[in-house]
Amino acid sequence: MPIFGSWSKAFCNLHEVAHDLARIAKIRWDIGYQPPAVSSSCSFPPELIMPTELSRRARKLTSSVIREILKVTASPDVISFAGGIPAPETFPVDLLHTACEQIFAEEAREALQYSLTEGFLPLRQWIASRHSADVDQVLITTGSQQALDLLAKALLDPGVTVLVESPTYLGALQAFSLFEPSFRELPCDDAGICTAELTPADAADARLAYLMPNFQNPTGRLMSAERRHDVCRLMGDAGVLIVEDDPYGELGFNGQRLQSLRSIHPEGVAYLGSFSKVLAPGLRVGYVVAPAWLTAKLTQLKQAADLHSSTFDQRLAYRVLASGALPAQIDTIRKLYASRCDAMLQALQASMAAEVRWNRPEGGMFIWLNLPPQCDSHLLLQKSIAVAQSTRVAFVPGAPFHAVAPRSDCLRLSFVTVDAERIRIGICQLAENIRTM
Ligand SMILES: Cc1ncc(COP(=O)(O)O)c(C=O)c1O
Repeated sequence: MPIFGSWSKAFCNLHEVAHDLARIAKIRWDIGYQPPAVSSSCSFPPELIMPTELSRRARKLTSSVIREILKVTASPDVISFAGGIPAPETFPVDLLHTACEQIFAEEAREALQYSLTEGFLPLRQWIASRHSADVDQVLITTGSQQALDLLAKALLDPGVTVLVESPTYLGALQAFSLFEPSFRELPCDDAGICTAELTPADAADARLAYLMPNFQNPTGRLMSAERRHDVCRLMGDAGVLIVEDDPYGELGFNGQRLQSLRSIHPEGVAYLGSFSKVLAPGLRVGYVVAPAWLTAKLTQLKQAADLHSSTFDQRLAYRVLASGALPAQIDTIRKLYASRCDAMLQALQASMAAEVRWNRPEGGMFIWLNLPPQCDSHLLLQKSIAVAQSTRVAFVPGAPFHAVAPRSDCLRLSFVTVDAERIRIGICQLAENIRTM
């Protein structure tokens, strides 16, 4: 029999881990959720807790960086460039309100009922027509994050190779890691994957390539048209499925879109879309457009996971889309984000030391900063959020975005949720913190 004290300690840890998992699984740090503070003492009466073990998978999930940032970004005196969340003032509140009233007036019982795993047919048809796809290829998911999880379940076994950009979206690494693949980072520059440096051998044994061609998270970069064709050819020849994750595709500041990987190579690409960045992330409506064989398998996996995404939210999203309001909505978001991006670029230009480098995104939500080599972004964060600072600034250190070889001399800045004046103040302080590291 275990000694009570050690059980109680283990339960406290379990409680903490469970809390973390719930936090991560529901709304992770990358989308900027700020949970209520957790008491450090264990509040579960030990006799009510089953003395069971977590699975090997669950035990592997960690959240150290997450905790650190969450603890501080909740504080109003912190200028936070850390969240990956959209600007809430862009949410189409009135449109959604009207759509809600219409749903309750016209289709309340259907909207509150269980429904098909594939999703609400008119919404799937709307998506299929925009992507020149067959409706059977479209599955509605609970945010595109769920699509990442379903794809991992469908395609990954321990040890299989997953190709990723360097750096890449942390949420995808998290979803894939549970299935214990072996990641291979592909060399990248400002135009995306350096396809000229790749040989067929780099892709030969891989199961999938996870790519974000448009305004990538975390760097904000845009893959060039030429590289899109090259990467499709390369992966097609090697028989590697491309997962094209595109939540930011509509957020190009000039309103133009380059060809999607899916449109170049439809039979070899699973395209992930989301309404989180163009309507509201709280709706949790995303989708996959994939070859029909894969969509069918993802649908089975989704059925096991949650039966279907919220019937109500799907209808709500559809009402707004069908009203024709999306183009104007996207235009508003683009204009706001372009002006904030500009404010951040100007502030960087005015205040950063010569050795600090950054990119100039043409859309999306992020700027990637490369620090002088001796400057560790994790230590810089600790310094920047210290209570002793008159202006506290938060950002996300670069290391966790790397699947294989973490780099600490880089960081991600989001420019969308802070107004221009606070952007100027925050960047000025960050520059000072870098200079005095
Ligand atoms: C690249 C990328 N993929 C997927 C997601 C998940 O988005 P959602 O589940 O809200 O559609 C995010 C969220 O920020 C993201 O940045």
